[in-house]
Amino acid sequence: MTDQSQRIKLDFNNVLRVGAEHGLTEQELDAATEQLRQAIQAVQQRRQGGDLRWMELPYADTGEIEQLAADLRDQFENFVVLGIGGSALGNIAVNTALNGPFYNQLTGRKTPRLFVLDNSDPEFNAGLLDVIDPAKSVFNVITKSGSTGETLSSFLFFRDAVQKAVGADKIKDHFVLTTDPAKGPLRELVNQEGFRSLPVPDGVGGRFSVLSPVGLLSAAVTGIDIKQLLAGAAYADELTREADPWQNPAALGALIQYLLYGKGVDIVVMMPYAQRLKDVADWFAQLWAESLGKKLSRTGETVNVGPTPVKALGATDQHSQVQLYVEGPFNKLINFIRVEQFAEQGALPAGYADMDAFAYLTGHSFAELINAEQEATAIALTEAGKPSMTHIVPEINAFTVGQLLYLLEVQTAIAGELFGIDAFDQPGVEAGKIATYALLGRSGYEQQRQQIEQALGQNNPRAVV
Ligand code: PA5
Repeated sequence: MTDQSQRIKLDFNNVLRVGAEHGLTEQELDAATEQLRQAIQAVQQRRQGGDLRWMELPYADTGEIEQLAADLRDQFENFVVLGIGGSALGNIAVNTALNGPFYNQLTGRKTPRLFVLDNSDPEFNAGLLDVIDPAKSVFNVITKSGSTGETLSSFLFFRDAVQKAVGADKIKDHFVLTTDPAKGPLRELVNQEGFRSLPVPDGVGGRFSVLSPVGLLSAAVTGIDIKQLLAGAAYADELTREADPWQNPAALGALIQYLLYGKGVDIVVMMPYAQRLKDVADWFAQLWAESLGKKLSRTGETVNVGPTPVKALGATDQHSQVQLYVEGPFNKLINFIRVEQFAEQGALPAGYADMDAFAYLTGHSFAELINAEQEATAIALTEAGKPSMTHIVPEINAFTVGQLLYLLEVQTAIAGELFGIDAFDQPGVEAGKIATYALLGRSGYEQQRQQIEQALGQNNPRAVV
């Protein structure tokens, strides 16, 4: 695929425009070219060594997923994803981007409503039962490890609701378990009880799994063209395996953020100017934070490194966060996402022509307005000496969304190389999971519980007011 018209571009002119103190110069980028070339090479070498299997997802066969999706689509009114982190955020991002924010409210829709429950909040879980009939719902339980407490508790909760609605012998018909192909408690259940299942391919970590069965089943059930999603990712693969850093948008995106981090710009604000891409910012926040926030370097030194991702939405957050970004500290890079062609222009009708506040809007469209607002924010930031860059998306479709997700994943992998850390583990998350098991009395975690109790026993009574 070489349809240049669908290519996402990275414009970082504003990083250069703000100059050396808070931005970057071409000389600084040039000086890092060799380091960047090596980082690109290191990622591709790890891939060739079989290490980074998420990079092969664009080329996977989707037949089984499409077949299952077609069966489920005909049988159920509601498709509910139960998962958390990388086992939920991609589903939400793809759905909002391609089905739109009002998908569940659409009338005359031929595909099931989609709900993604990614929290153990009791009111959130119980609240779903106020709007769905479990007898008309199928639940996709997604957990790679098969043991995440939040997800398994949701499984128990909705399994019970399904049992009450349809009886114990029909429970299985209402669940699809997406988990490790060979191991883990959920895989055991699949083997013992015969639940339908899909694999989270071996070697594909949660936050890099959106283009695997983790993200593809809910997309296919709701009618998204998953082949196009993967075709877009394959195109991004073509662009981001480019060895020349100056032709590689993922590499330059990673380098800019790495070099700015060295100048104290340690926050990246992901700010799409498109409601449909709002949840891509959420997905990116996890990808960036969990991959790059690390205590140890690859050589075992303590580095406590990691840029902080912040999610924002244009134009909404112009009236919330942008004041801080323009006038606050010089510690942020704003990463805009701009859509060139919206599917709807939203022409603004004429009205109140005798009032200045309305007159200038007439003859324009929402599409023009939101893009002018993005440009205006970028100008204000540049004038204030704050760096920004923009991913320019030609239009929002399955191809460009697949391309964007894969591009940002490769950017993360290359950034991991530049920062010298392992972007693919998450010991900090595991620590939280272990503490939860210990607090709730899971067997095998007695020692951790003892340690926690000891630490909590040292509470200073004056420290709670
Ligand atoms: O990216 C990751 O690895 C994590 O965010 C996981 O996706 C998250 O912790 C959920 O894990 P699991 O899929 O094993 O339930």
